[in-house]
Amino acid sequence: MVTTSLMQRLGIDAPVIQAPMGGGPTTPELVAAVTNAGGIGSVAGGYLDPDTLRREIAAVRQLTDGPFAVNVFAPLDPDVTPDAIEVAIEVLAPYRRELGLEPRPALGEPGPAFSDHLDVLVETAPPVVSFTFGLLPPDAVRALHDVGCLLVGTATSVEEAVALVHADVDVVCAQGSEAGAHRGTFLTDPVLATVGLVVLVPAVTDAVDVPVVAAGGIMDGRGVASVLALGAQAAQLGTAFLRCPQAGTNATHRAALAAAGHESTVVTSALTGRAARTIANRLTRELADRAVPAYPVMNALTAELRRVAAARGREDLMSLWAGQGVARGTELDAGELVRRLAEETERAIAGLGVPGRP
Ligand SMILES: Cc1cc2nc3c(=O)[nH]c(=O)nc-3n(C[C@H](O)[C@H](O)[C@H](O)COP(=O)(O)O)c2cc1C
Repeated sequence: MVTTSLMQRLGIDAPVIQAPMGGGPTTPELVAAVTNAGGIGSVAGGYLDPDTLRREIAAVRQLTDGPFAVNVFAPLDPDVTPDAIEVAIEVLAPYRRELGLEPRPALGEPGPAFSDHLDVLVETAPPVVSFTFGLLPPDAVRALHDVGCLLVGTATSVEEAVALVHADVDVVCAQGSEAGAHRGTFLTDPVLATVGLVVLVPAVTDAVDVPVVAAGGIMDGRGVASVLALGAQAAQLGTAFLRCPQAGTNATHRAALAAAGHESTVVTSALTGRAARTIANRLTRELADRAVPAYPVMNALTAELRRVAAARGREDLMSLWAGQGVARGTELDAGELVRRLAEETERAIAGLGVPGRP
């Protein structure tokens, strides 16, 4: 059986981490199924209010005794002017009218504060805390280490990986440009930071002295084996789990995932103000050239439109987050998928260099 020092440290049998997937797809059932099958499930805490996050962590603990991760967003301080918000509201108004919504969205808080999430994390002390969109404040890193959490930060470039290690993370998750949904980019120019995994993983493993996890476009054991060969110690998969029965993925999103092909996705910042990979649709095409306010402000401005479109089966006006590997997705049970990935990884490694294979 393939094993790595990170797997030993985490106490897992399969080199598979279910990526946190905010906005609905991640459920306690999905997290626990992955952990119970020998991988690591990840709670997606970024969009949850603190009480819901506390409840989700408790629900996972009811369903498994194994290790799991909780994911949060690093604190953000976007530079957004009122004028930019007004322009975006005007751009979005026709789409909102088309769905029968008030032309202006309600302007609430863009999302829960990191400090509230930190309190829940320190109180509940999950075995692993992963985060994206930046660095954590030094006192948060100390507080999480004090309660025994292993810290995993997300990097989309070597520069970001090195910064995370200087900020005392224990593991770097290298997120390739193939990855579904938001990119974690926080230092590098977002266009230049669209580096594919085959380049990113060896570059990051050479640059840092902590274990590296690889994420982006991995859909089967061949993908897992390939990132292990490139130097990663585990693979993090999101899109591969989106169609599992345990996932909370919306029905319209599921249908679009099932119909997608190998060239269906695009990276755009038009939907939320941050580069993210989604299945291309009318919204990505029509908003492609618009300057929009930064995340999480634009995310909040489009949230209701995308939610209502999803509920009404309007895949043309919603976000359809997916990685480049989407066409290889299946509806398999999440535990079965982890077991299949582990077996395929073994087979892929055993089959390397064997003569007679096509
Ligand atoms: C629907 C969806 C939602 C996601 N939400 C989060 C999130 O809340 N936090 C995070 O760190 N990463 C999030 N990601 C990115 C994953 O951590 C990971 O980088 C990505 O899924 C890997 O690429 P793949 O989808 O091709 O497997 C999300 C990915 C998807 C597909």
